[in-house]
Amino acid sequence: MTEIPTPSVPDFWGRAYTAEGITVYYNRRRCIHFAACVRGLPQVFDTQQRPWIQPGRADAAAVAEVVRRCPTGALHYVLPSGPPELSAPTTIDVRENGPNFLRGDLTIASPESADPAGTIRDTRAALCRCGQSGNKPFCDGTHRQVGFQAPGGQS
Ligand code: SF4
Ligand code: FES
Repeated sequence: MTEIPTPSVPDFWGRAYTAEGITVYYNRRRCIHFAACVRGLPQVFDTQQRPWIQPGRADAAAVAEVVRRCPTGALHYVLPSGPPELSAPTTIDVRENGPNFLRGDLTIASPESADPAGTIRDTRAALCRCGQSGNKPFCDGTHRQVGFQAPGGQS
């Protein structure tokens, strides 16, 4: 049997969860519990189960589609038989009392970088707007604790 090589992905993608046809990666420090994943496929993303991500519980394409809904870049995926995630046109979604959600072909100056330039490439990110995150430039959810208030869109 021919083994499918493990793809090389950036360290900041985090822990890998592999099933037939897909590997999902989770970076806990980027997760702000927005719960798009849990709402999208509760049988796959279930904080009551261990491991909490079980990609084998749904079709690989469906899992990838829900991963792309994660606005913060906490989730990524690799489909061994499919193309990488395509970046959409760059958009900024300013959230009421919260971060800026960015999508697109992003280059971000980040301490997560393993690159001498100090930047990472990504397709999704939540950038702190309250100034209080412990994981800048990314939002870590602290805006809720500090009661940050500013206009923006709502889900
Ligand atoms: S959608 Fe992303 S940010 Fe939201 S809970 Fe899931 S992993 Fe965390
Ligand atoms: S906007 Fe979320 S921590 Fe600053």
